Amino acid sequence: MSETSPSAPPTPCRLLLLGYGHVAQAFLPLLASRSAWMERELGIVPVISGIGSRSQGLYIHADGVSANELASKLDPLRFFQSSGTRVERTETFIQTGAVVGASLLIELTTLNPHNGEPALTHIRQALTAGMDAITANKGPVAFAQAGLQALARQHHIQFRFESTVMDGFPLFNLAQFTLPAVGIQSFRGLLNSTSGLVLDRIAAGYTLDEAIQQAQQLGIAEADPWYDLDGWDAVMKTTILANTLLEGQVTPAAVRREGIRGLAIEDMRSAARAGAPFRLVSSASRKDGAVIAAVRPLRIGTDDILHIGKGTTGVICLETEAMGTITLVEHEPTVLQTAYGVLSDLITVLRRRGTD
Ligand SMILES: NC(=O)c1ccc[n+]([C@@H]2O[C@H](COP(=O)([O-])OP(=O)(O)OC[C@H]3O[C@@H](n4cnc5c(N)ncnc54)[C@H](OP(=O)(O)O)[C@@H]3O)[C@@H](O)[C@H]2O)c1
Repeated sequence: MSETSPSAPPTPCRLLLLGYGHVAQAFLPLLASRSAWMERELGIVPVISGIGSRSQGLYIHADGVSANELASKLDPLRFFQSSGTRVERTETFIQTGAVVGASLLIELTTLNPHNGEPALTHIRQALTAGMDAITANKGPVAFAQAGLQALARQHHIQFRFESTVMDGFPLFNLAQFTLPAVGIQSFRGLLNSTSGLVLDRIAAGYTLDEAIQQAQQLGIAEADPWYDLDGWDAVMKTTILANTLLEGQVTPAAVRREGIRGLAIEDMRSAARAGAPFRLVSSASRKDGAVIAAVRPLRIGTDDILHIGKGTTGVICLETEAMGTITLVEHEPTVLQTAYGVLSDLITVLRRRGTD
């Protein structure tokens, strides 16, 4: 059912897109393909006012370009380079974007698992400028979730990050909107697609380098694939989940971390042959009033529900007070699912504007 009156002219929603890699390049055509839906259902037409990447520069377009028109360009970033104005610093990108009417930053830059920077600073700048912010980047959320949410509340705007943990799978939406106060006590999950794929490919006889290359070709590996294989990506996700679902106060440094680097290739293969392959398992639970979290490779037998998580498939098993055990499976996600998570956050932000 439409949420707007049929006669009202659509309102532009001006967006800044920071980072133009795999996720952003999947997000733009998805946004364009849903523009008619957004216009019909929300009375809003998405317009891109700025795009930027580290090596290609940051560009603002004073009038903005509708997502539809921009996605039809052969190279949307090059189009901005030729028709927009270049700015040198991200802070200026955000400030100039605000001046031309941008009200939302979509932050899709590279993960920094050591401190979340510079994305953390960029999100803070956007929130301080009164812009809603959406990110798929785990770093800023893992390191500063509470502070960023407090800043958003203070400015009566929103900060959302659905894509950070299970791509487009509506995990945080589920906890916030569908299962509020369900009392989640613990979780176990397979949250890193690259490790799952690499473990599977090695078990199938590929070398480590070949397996990593396959993950990179799918666009699912971090810019540095060792951030996946050494467990950093999973630590970020585990931290975010522990703090969001279990209301913990966990820092990435407090998550016990062991990646798959230390596993011998032959051990990976023989474990898989025996029907209990290694998987990189994230877990967290409440203990003595605190939340304890870990990431480590474990052998997963056929009697374990996580066994369903083959290759890139993500699984999370939640122990709840009111709904018992719930297991959610995201089958073989690709970058499109991540882009969808960003789109679903955008729709949530637009629907909730003025209610926070
Ligand atoms: N790919 C997935 O399936 C997936 C899933 C969930 C979450 N994520 C997260 O989503 C984010 C984006 O992922 P991706 O796969 O799109 O990464 P990517 O392909 O490596 O692209 C990252 C983009 O960010 C830009 N960038 C990096 N630092 C920047 C800075 N300081 N200022 C402006 N631009 C900057 C890069 O610019 P240059 O290329 O010019 O250096 C590039 O355009 C990451 O944080 C990742 O962890 C990705």
